[in-house]
Amino acid sequence: MMPLEKKHIDRIRELVHSYSGIILERVTTRNVDKKIHNQMKHFGVVKPADYILILEEFDHNSKAMDELIAELTVSESYFFRNPVQFEYLLEVMLPEFYQRSNWEIPLRVWSAGCSRGEEAYSLAMTMLYFQKKHPEARFSINAGDINGKNLVAAREAIYGNRSLREKLAIFEEKFGFKLGTRDDKGECSVSDELKTLVNLQKLNLKNIRGLNCLAGSDIIFCRNVLIYFDEQLRMQLAEKFYQCLNPGGVVFLGESECFSGISTPFELVNYKKIYAYRKPTGIR
Ligand SMILES: C[S@@+](CC[C@H](N)C(=O)[O-])C[C@H]1O[C@@H](n2cnc3c(N)ncnc32)[C@H](O)[C@@H]1O
Repeated sequence: MMPLEKKHIDRIRELVHSYSGIILERVTTRNVDKKIHNQMKHFGVVKPADYILILEEFDHNSKAMDELIAELTVSESYFFRNPVQFEYLLEVMLPEFYQRSNWEIPLRVWSAGCSRGEEAYSLAMTMLYFQKKHPEARFSINAGDINGKNLVAAREAIYGNRSLREKLAIFEEKFGFKLGTRDDKGECSVSDELKTLVNLQKLNLKNIRGLNCLAGSDIIFCRNVLIYFDEQLRMQLAEKFYQCLNPGGVVFLGESECFSGISTPFELVNYKKIYAYRKPTGIR
């Protein structure tokens, strides 16, 4: 395998950033050449310049770009990551939301950058538990990711140890129902009841206009994704999430993420170490 020339890597880095907002060095530093060569082989091209021509087409056909991003990104996730956020939903946000809306309006939840679905199914379990206690509580859950392979895995919804870890068992015990059935290898297949609660779709957070699908949300989970992006895109997303949230709606970020330098009047949620921003009520 011939190492790629710097000018080719630089151009690919630029294209990945322009399509997805991803800063290459933040998602991967290992085997970048090899991963790009794998993709060139997959698309039947020998010269890097020809592969770049295919990538440059992403406005009309994003297949090559999507596959490259799937190859480059590591999509680490697990059930009930940052459990205090789920605790906040159950203890504070859900009771407040349904009381404020007199149990008449369905709560709309988004998992934006959902990886292979662990986050979305954790939300589905949380909502189902709440609904079992309060049958009048209606809700919908949408989940999206730029990586098509992740979406296939999310639809399949079979998880191994890396995704299951110890937090899931604590919530299964609390909720009184299981995520799904386990086989003798310890893999868990998510129950059909939970699977039908999550609508999965392709989502590119770099395409700000395309994010109108988030409009009318009450909860947006966008965790451990902003770390890949530059300051400008993070600020655009803060603005867009603010517009898309209903009053009282909350955006949840990952533990090492924040919206700094934003002009939107988000309130910081003051509940343990929750990393969440709330749109004040009484604002449209
Ligand atoms: C580290 S995972 C985080 C998964 C989950 N939110 C969590 O916190 O466990 C980051 C996910 O963001 C997705 N991602 C990266 N850039 C994206 C973009 N521009 N639009 C949508 N998803 C993106 C990746 O494909 C990956 O699945």
